[in-house]
Amino acid sequence: MNHHKKEKREKVVRFGVSFDEELLSKFDGLISKKGYQSRSEAIRDLVREALIEKGIAENEEIVGTITLIYDHDFPGVVEKLMHIQHIHHDEITSTTHTHIDPHRCLEVLVVRGRASKLHKLADNLKAIKGVLNGQLVASTIKI
Ligand code: NI
Repeated sequence: MNHHKKEKREKVVRFGVSFDEELLSKFDGLISKKGYQSRSEAIRDLVREALIEKGIAENEEIVGTITLIYDHDFPGVVEKLMHIQHIHHDEITSTTHTHIDPHRCLEVLVVRGRASKLHKLADNLKAIKGVLNGQLVASTIKI
């Protein structure tokens, strides 16, 4: 990720990490697949990812998207989706709708707010009958 290269020059601390051979070999495979320059760079990225997930669990403010695929012919699904989205007008900053085929729609909601509220919103939307798939992708804003 490019923004990592812009990070401030802080004091670097070296420490040893022990891996069993098999795990290290798998890790090296991942490193070359993802194009990291070194094991250190890969480990730093993994730690950042873990910290971001922890931040989300601790209910920071987050930004992200909720992606939904639904069958708009399913009785009531459009009305229910619209109703819930209007209730959450504070969290949903924009929406994009794409017609996939004669029956299915793809909708992407850009969301911002407390992690717990957004997870609940995503769960509520996914639970609507006629919604075939739903996913919240979120990031802390404190990276
Ligand atoms: Ni549509």
